[in-house]
Amino acid sequence: MLGPSVKRLARLAATRPLEKAGMVLVLAAMVVSTAAALLLLACPASPRCSTAVGSALSVPRKLRGCGASAPGEVAPECDFFDGEWVRDDSYPLYESKDCPFLDGGFRCSENGRPDTSYTRWRWQPSCCDLPRFDAKSMLQRLRNKRVVFVGDSIGRNQWESLLCMLSTAVPDKSSIYEINGRPITKHNGFLKFKFRDYNCTVEYYRSPFLVPQGHGPAGAPKFVKSTVRVDSMDWMSGRGKWRDADLLIFNSGHWWTKDKTIGWGAYFQEGNKVKMDMSVSDAYRRSIQTLFDWLHKNVNANKTQTIFRTYSPTHFSGGDWNSGGFCQQETLPDMTPFKSLEQWANMLKPVNDVLGSHHRPKLPGLDILNVTRMTAQRKDGHLSVFRSPLSSRQALINKTSETREVEDCSHWCLPGVPDVWNELLYALFMKRQIMLDQNVSVSGSRTLLADRQSAGDIST
Ligand SMILES: *[C@@H]1O[C@H](CO)[C@@H](O)[C@H](O)[C@H]1NC(C)=O
Ligand SMILES: *[C@@H]1O[C@H](CO)[C@@H](O)[C@H](O)[C@H]1NC(C)=O
Ligand SMILES: *[C@@H]1O[C@H](CO)[C@@H](O)[C@H](O)[C@H]1NC(C)=O
Ligand SMILES: *[C@@H]1O[C@H](CO)[C@@H](O)[C@H](O)[C@H]1NC(C)=O
Ligand SMILES: *[C@@H]1O[C@H](CO)[C@@H](O)[C@H](O)[C@H]1NC(C)=O
Repeated sequence: MLGPSVKRLARLAATRPLEKAGMVLVLAAMVVSTAAALLLLACPASPRCSTAVGSALSVPRKLRGCGASAPGEVAPECDFFDGEWVRDDSYPLYESKDCPFLDGGFRCSENGRPDTSYTRWRWQPSCCDLPRFDAKSMLQRLRNKRVVFVGDSIGRNQWESLLCMLSTAVPDKSSIYEINGRPITKHNGFLKFKFRDYNCTVEYYRSPFLVPQGHGPAGAPKFVKSTVRVDSMDWMSGRGKWRDADLLIFNSGHWWTKDKTIGWGAYFQEGNKVKMDMSVSDAYRRSIQTLFDWLHKNVNANKTQTIFRTYSPTHFSGGDWNSGGFCQQETLPDMTPFKSLEQWANMLKPVNDVLGSHHRPKLPGLDILNVTRMTAQRKDGHLSVFRSPLSSRQALINKTSETREVEDCSHWCLPGVPDVWNELLYALFMKRQIMLDQNVSVSGSRTLLADRQSAGDIST
């Protein structure tokens, strides 16, 4: 079957002849991006193919660790997440001063950050090239659709980045607006931006645990100030109609720590019972299972592409987020060879075990946006002290007579690292769009492997 937007375009073209010319252009643009993405899809680890990809996207590439495949053998699918950071002065993709959709807290350069090199890194997968982010073709494919981000404030970081990236294709920024007129601040837990000319919304729902937090059951001990109900989805899922989204992006992790749960009197609840001895990592696993069950039961994989973005590492030196940790001195990525992800195992394993890996997601229509390893290297990209303008920082210092400013080494400057996550999101999104165009069943990466051969035929 054709993707719904393509069908709609075809219908429109058939019923409204005056718009035919425009539609043809739109379709032509889609075909061009389709061709590039097809090559991307169809890149086996063979020099012939890599040349084709290299010349098609005119990006120099090298073959490294791609695994030579024997003649006739089906090559493994390109792993977008295995690669390296490459300095590229054609970045950033936008400037914060040109983007009205950024929280002041992410505007590092406007808040006085003097260096810019952290905005100039591109992610280069080892065995293929990423398509260059094309805001217009993404918006065309999102016509009449909903993009929904659900998660913590790092998810908001990524959502704001996507708003800026998409808005580069829209000259009249006032045609992009929050449907309730609310400003972007960290105090709003629900924001829905509409791209008027595309009838597309890009929404953010704050849900740090993905499951609800609320009052504990009657009769719970006094020190139980609240509970996190690990066996049901956040009630916002219904109100926000998450299941009807076309592109649904989750993240979690940063609140699944002892500090931010039990440390603040938030215990875990299952059914009517407070589970006093449930560990944070067991509770996280249980909640990811709740997400899995909810997706399985509620989300139509033929309509909705679901993406889970994995944990975004923090980089506090000399302390933690609440004990004087810092990162302001960092201006370059860590280019030493890949280190173990062991220190984030509590955040990574539940996702990996329950939802699957990016090689093999465990649900149809689910993709894993596996940013953890690449992001682990980006100690240079955080807000540090540039999370607010100098004047307000000085006022705070004067008021509290602190000698050292509190640094934020969790969130990211924009433009910056989340833009690159969104380029990977774009690659996953386009990959699925191409499959829909080709009537390939969208039931996870396994079918993709089976269909590799025909995709290869088309690209050569
Ligand atoms: C996809 O399937 C539909 C019917 O489900 C058919 O009409 C259409 O021609 C097919 N498109 C391609 C490219 O095979
Ligand atoms: C706009 O998009 C929504 C889905 O978000 C859809 O329900 C509605 O029909 C679209 N409106 C038009 C005029 O196509
Ligand atoms: C999704 O599509 C497949 C194949 O096109 C079909 O068999 C299945 O019933 C569809 N599922 C839903 C929930 O529409
Ligand atoms: C993410 O990538 C790392 C490094 O390649 C891998 O070890 C891990 O299993 C992946 N996790 C998921 C959930 O895909
Ligand atoms: C903070 O104090 C310094 C001198 O101690 C003063 O020059 C500066 O104006 C004050 N800044 C603010 C924002 O109050």
